[in-house]
Amino acid sequence: MSATILAIESSCDDTSASVVRDGIMLSNVIASQKVHEAYGGVVPELASRAHQQNIVPVVSEALRQAGISKEELSAIAVTRGPGLLGSLMVGVSFAKGLAISLGIPLVDVNHLHGHVLSHFIRTQETDEVPDFPYMALLISGGNTQIVLVKAYNEMEIVGQTIDDAAGEAFDKCAKVMGLPYPGGPHIDRLAAEGNPEAFRFSKPHIPGLDYSFSGLKTSFLYTLRDNVKEDPGFIEKNKADLAASLQATIISILLDKLSKAVKKYPVKHMAIGGGVSANSGVREAVARFCERRGIKAWIPARVFTTDNAAMVAMAGYFKYLEGKYCPLSLPPYARVDI
Ligand code: KG4
Repeated sequence: MSATILAIESSCDDTSASVVRDGIMLSNVIASQKVHEAYGGVVPELASRAHQQNIVPVVSEALRQAGISKEELSAIAVTRGPGLLGSLMVGVSFAKGLAISLGIPLVDVNHLHGHVLSHFIRTQETDEVPDFPYMALLISGGNTQIVLVKAYNEMEIVGQTIDDAAGEAFDKCAKVMGLPYPGGPHIDRLAAEGNPEAFRFSKPHIPGLDYSFSGLKTSFLYTLRDNVKEDPGFIEKNKADLAASLQATIISILLDKLSKAVKKYPVKHMAIGGGVSANSGVREAVARFCERRGIKAWIPARVFTTDNAAMVAMAGYFKYLEGKYCPLSLPPYARVDI
């Protein structure tokens, strides 16, 4: 029997809806919220208000692009967490209301599972997908995790950050350089013109597979502070080299642990996901890392690196197939592990 899922994602500052039929993506509509740019970060209250304004047109557009009516839906999938509670509340309440009115099941999705399973998003029957078990490096603004993916609904976190996420390292360092929020894409752009060996920043010495990025942030800050004292034009003159050296250090920290991880858990496939997986340097470095080890690398299309409902639809589709529905009484949650 055919399964058609409408998914809703509203965990942070993107309102998104997607329709997936039998595992094939029919639409993926994303409304990004520009309102936060002026504040240098996401303002939770403004985010929930923007979700409220966006949700009806975004869902209607996703159904229209997919060419289906609400009555054809088999289930509603929704990100129930982790994320900003006020933002999640908008998507979850809307999804519950729609599921009740259509008399179809609600499937709740862990946002992080969505990123990890984003490689299963297909637009055609023939597209390839990763083989289980595979390793996923989840790098976003809020999370940095190495996840062993054993099956669609079975994952184990084998390493994660003990402080900042990789995206935070990009964004916070970019902020002290005076770059707009979010700084990650600006660092990426500047890094392409800089020398990655121009500056040395400290790297953490954390045992096992866990990450830490707060020391790098401090060392970056001190380099800037000491040099700006001598020359107020230091940042402007060196911005490409600073960006390239910062990016190279973050990549090196990410790959050091990945190298330990594949020794401990030999896998044939490796995937990356989350906003930072849009970074050109990260994409290239992971591809090279895998090639050297005979591992197949799964690098997502850039549109699926940031928050999108297509990944939620896929994760929801796999849960739906296993009959894992969500009671309508369950509320959104702000924090959780995989
Ligand atoms: O997954 P995501 O959209 O949502 C959150 O977890 O919030 O990730 C957003 C993060 C931000 O830190 C942003 O700076 C980073 O992804 N990012 C990038 C790039 N594009 C987005 N970081 C480095 N290079 C990029 N090209």
